[in-house]
Amino acid sequence: MTQPLTIALSKGRILDDTLPLLAEAGIHPAEDIHKSRKLIFDTNHEHIKLVVIRATDVPTYVEYGAADLGVAGKDVLMEYDSNNLCEPLDLNIATCRLMTAAIKDAVMPQGRLKVATKFVNTAKRYFAEQGRQVDIIKLYGGMELAPIMGLADMIVDIVDTGNTLKANGLEARDLIAPISSRLVAGRAAMKVKHAQIQPIIDQMAAAVERQR
Ligand code: ADP
Ligand code: PRP
Ligand code: MG
Repeated sequence: MTQPLTIALSKGRILDDTLPLLAEAGIHPAEDIHKSRKLIFDTNHEHIKLVVIRATDVPTYVEYGAADLGVAGKDVLMEYDSNNLCEPLDLNIATCRLMTAAIKDAVMPQGRLKVATKFVNTAKRYFAEQGRQVDIIKLYGGMELAPIMGLADMIVDIVDTGNTLKANGLEARDLIAPISSRLVAGRAAMKVKHAQIQPIIDQMAAAVERQR
């Protein structure tokens, strides 16, 4: 019996790179996602639906089994940090780096470091591994502003071209992790719906290889 299957996609910058990979697995949305205000979409397969949500919400939907598969950045998955999720495939899209950054040439204080980021858990873990005492300040975007305004000594953020850092007088310091988007699955879904999920993984994997 064919069971219903839901795939959670991150809206925003990775959606455009995700859809061609899904298409290679024979999955096409029934209408143009970009032209719709809908959050849930039918596909050419009666049993497969797509939900399009905030990148940071994808692991939540997949962990609780509301979606069977998802696509999310490794940065989001590191921050969510769940044992109930597995990453069967690196999609090699939206490649970038998670880094620390500070005002160019600024000398860091000896004592506690003020670090602004939206990646609170990842930053805590990273600085603990470094043996560095930090106060983490949670922000939701535009982290590059924090050191300029004296809110923080450092930030932890995504760096791609480095243009945003440069435009704001900052420089990258240390690499925390190389980032790309991943196909993510719930451990339960991987078992129960294996027969349906594995061919999708295999076809997307072949498409990723062709794009390399
Ligand atoms: P958000 O609104 O949560 O920031 P984005 O659509 O900007 O979502 O980013 C989605 C994912 O794309 C991030 O989780 C990260 O993995 C990756 N990403 C973010 N910024 C960049 C960038 N400048 N270049 C390449 N990849 C990026
Ligand atoms: C991302 C990231 C950096 C910037 C890095 O921001 O948070 O600010 O891109 O890219 P660059 O090195 O090529 O300049 P985004 O545009 O996604 O803004 P937001 O997530 O804060 O909304
Ligand atoms: Mg962003």
